Amino acid sequence: MKLFGRSLFFYWDNFVILLITYSAIIIPLEIALDSVSKSRTVLTINTITVFCFLLDLIFNFYHALKKETETNANSKQNSALTRKQRLYSYLKTWFIIDLISIIPYDLLIQYSFLHPSYEYLALARTLRLLRLLKIAQFMQKWGQTEFSNQGVMRLFYFVYWTGLIAHWIALGWIYIGGVPEKINDLPIDPNEPFTLYNIALYWTITTLTTIGYGDITPKTNIQRMYTMIVMIIGAGLYGYIIGNIANLLTNIDIAKTNFMQKMEKINTFMKYRRIPVELQNRINNYYTFLWENRKGYDESNIMDELPSSLRMKIALYLNKDIFEKIPIFKEASEDLISELVLNLKPVIFTPGDYIFRKGDIGLNMYFISRGIVEVIDEDKEHVIATLTDGNFFGEMALVFSAPRNASIKALDYCDLYTLDKETFDKVIVNFPDFAKSIEEKANKRFKNHVTENK
Ligand code: CMP
Repeated sequence: MKLFGRSLFFYWDNFVILLITYSAIIIPLEIALDSVSKSRTVLTINTITVFCFLLDLIFNFYHALKKETETNANSKQNSALTRKQRLYSYLKTWFIIDLISIIPYDLLIQYSFLHPSYEYLALARTLRLLRLLKIAQFMQKWGQTEFSNQGVMRLFYFVYWTGLIAHWIALGWIYIGGVPEKINDLPIDPNEPFTLYNIALYWTITTLTTIGYGDITPKTNIQRMYTMIVMIIGAGLYGYIIGNIANLLTNIDIAKTNFMQKMEKINTFMKYRRIPVELQNRINNYYTFLWENRKGYDESNIMDELPSSLRMKIALYLNKDIFEKIPIFKEASEDLISELVLNLKPVIFTPGDYIFRKGDIGLNMYFISRGIVEVIDEDKEHVIATLTDGNFFGEMALVFSAPRNASIKALDYCDLYTLDKETFDKVIVNFPDFAKSIEEKANKRFKNHVTENK
């Protein structure tokens, strides 16, 4: 079943990530702060979380069984075997963690007869955090599908994990009694969880960032050892940040950075060669349009690097709307589309550009994906026709092997696709229906031309 084009499992997986993150925040809070562990709201949410983890375990079983039935439907024996293998690997790995995380520690603590082991039971809850191991796996999958930019993904991971680690360290500091009774002679109320947490987080951040004001210091051996460990983590983290953050930030939008660098080069060149301002503006407008519509990527360059099978698939996808938009392609056979798809090249023109002039030698024809062009007879200085989305032009020179019989001027930003003469000639021979409709149009336009010139 799908919702907004995605399978329900996608939403479920993200919901489970949210619940794991919630557990990673709340469980240490419960261990360190009594008032949180006694809250009925927390108990209710925790019980719901455990129930959802149980559902997740069931879904994982279902997934392990279902996937193989879909992919190996052709061989029953093989399917049974691989299903078994899949199930076995699940049982060997994540199942144990999933099972541990569905033990309802909170309910046991509230209503158990296991009073003597209360402390251990509270700590046993942390076992549910083993599920965090799953987050790394989830996030990898998530990162590949949801973030088109790896820089943003890395920054997101970094913030996520640093936030969680700082939270745990702060709660650890409370747990080992690191928050003093007085700071700067002002007493701290030990029954106010927010103040305690705030002070502990403040200590954590000052220690992790190696700022260390020294207003909160370790008093016991355990606290001193804990501080040393946090200092070492802080030094590592600091090194990581200094080493990576500049890189991370520049990589957040690689496409934009590359594009800006390219624009800088072009602008410096234009200024150095004293290109007229009006022309500079047109060039800038062209690149701005390219950026807004294609994020600065030159499709042809990217396509050329791909193996032919992938190139065909991606070309079919990219040119999908042109085949839907342009009437003569609507009835085209699959063979014709495959022939055309790899040979149609996207080009962009800005308002006022002449795409070609009357009398030029015709080496391509054009299909308008988006935009408006004027067909102009420059000798008579009059507009013969205006063509827009879904139309084509430049076919007459190819059909009649003659020079262009009119000039074509872009009135707006035009997204066009060109088809070169060589492919055109091949297509005309192999696909007579397509040839017929183009030739009919060319003849009709030619007749119009003759009557107009009389
Ligand atoms: P071609 O001769 O290659 O170059 C100029 C193009 O203008 C021509 O092909 C046709 O595609 C187009 N054209 C010429 N006459 C007309 C017309 N009357 N209506 C629409 N388009 C035309």
